[in-house]
Amino acid sequence: MAYNALKGIQDILPPDIHVWQRIESVAREIFQRYGFQEIRVPIIESTDVFIRSIGETTDIVEKEMYTFQDKAGRSITMRPEGTAPAVRCYVEHHLYNLPVPQKFFYSGPMFRYERPQKGRFRQFYQIGVEAFGVSQPSIDVEVIAMLKNLLEGIGLKEVKFELNSIGCEKCRPDYKNALLKFFESKLSDFCPDCQRRYNANPLRILDCKVERCIELRKGAPAVAEHLCGDCREHFTGLVSRLDLMKIAYTLNPNLVRGLDYYTRTTFEVTTEHLGAQKAVAAGGRYDRLVEEFGGPSTPAIGFAIGMERIATLLQTQNSELRTPQPKVFIATLGKEAEIEGFKIAEDLRARGFWVEPNYAGASLKSQLRKADRIGAEIAFIIGENELKAGKIQWKNLKKGGQGEVEIKDIPAILTDDIQTSNP
Ligand code: HAM
Repeated sequence: MAYNALKGIQDILPPDIHVWQRIESVAREIFQRYGFQEIRVPIIESTDVFIRSIGETTDIVEKEMYTFQDKAGRSITMRPEGTAPAVRCYVEHHLYNLPVPQKFFYSGPMFRYERPQKGRFRQFYQIGVEAFGVSQPSIDVEVIAMLKNLLEGIGLKEVKFELNSIGCEKCRPDYKNALLKFFESKLSDFCPDCQRRYNANPLRILDCKVERCIELRKGAPAVAEHLCGDCREHFTGLVSRLDLMKIAYTLNPNLVRGLDYYTRTTFEVTTEHLGAQKAVAAGGRYDRLVEEFGGPSTPAIGFAIGMERIATLLQTQNSELRTPQPKVFIATLGKEAEIEGFKIAEDLRARGFWVEPNYAGASLKSQLRKADRIGAEIAFIIGENELKAGKIQWKNLKKGGQGEVEIKDIPAILTDDIQTSNP
């Protein structure tokens, strides 16, 4: 019986994993510079955590959650995103008592039962950040600048920052009414989901992916025209700071996002190189969520990047992401040489080199062929005679050149001299 991974769920193997690791390490470094600290939140939560925050009428909650009952009959959901667990954690541990802002990041798998396609998976990985406690646009700018630096640091090119403000609970009713009025006469032409959304939350109609609905909503009122004074001031503060910092963005009045918790700022980073799944990162403000989770009123903002999409993009961009290769291969002939080879390997590994030894007693020719195939830079060759003389042969497999070295001098010569030598 052969088993395959589930549909829409994939294994990440070398060499792809090196791209992932590079993204993760650049992210960690950048986050540290901005004072974002790591939190590890669970993969499963009470289902309510997601319904309350993401919203009952969203696609995620309506159709995409992996929800099950545990043995005690509790409803459990595998996290479809990281903001709700982060807020649950923030409130549960009273982190609002710490000095503001509190800035966190997390990474790991998320689960959504979506139709799998290029760039869309049922288990996918995000790296996300959340900053709590600042209502001023200064932190919006910081978070957006950090995302930009992260994407640039990874080497991502040709991405677009789309930006919008979707207002707050004060201006939302006015905007909803404008939408209801606009959609009223053509409601019966919309998909059944949108017809339901009309009553439940008309903003969701702006997020529907059905072609017909996209066509029908053209010309719908833009939220920017319905912002209250405070939201308008916040948004103006944000764009003017972005302009001053020369951070490029495109205003997109339809960017309402697929999750209900957002207030004011929303943003998405998009690319034209991934087909239908354009968003490589997305985020926004959610100034009411901490309170809804039982904490004190606390403004907050964050984003998450989609690892699969960014990794694919990097690979298609053909950026100079090299698969790391072993530095040293140790070829040995005979039992004693094999043991000496393992000793040398251990010594070099302790000094930080990647060393591959010979495991299987093959001929020298086939060992050197293997060294070549795995991309080793230097091969050391140890035979009985070399052992007696306390010396071993070296061969630079990338640049040519070979010679002899005393065993005690191996670490010293694993520096530039033998790598650049070409006798
Ligand atoms: P989101 O837009 O749902 O936002 O997801 C963020 C990113 O995750 C997307 O831009 C995309 O790159 C990636 N992504 C989403 N779904 C899939 C999928 N099925 N397959 C592959 N990649 C996917 C959030 O999740 C919010 N929690 C972001 C946030 C943090 N907002 C504030 N703080």
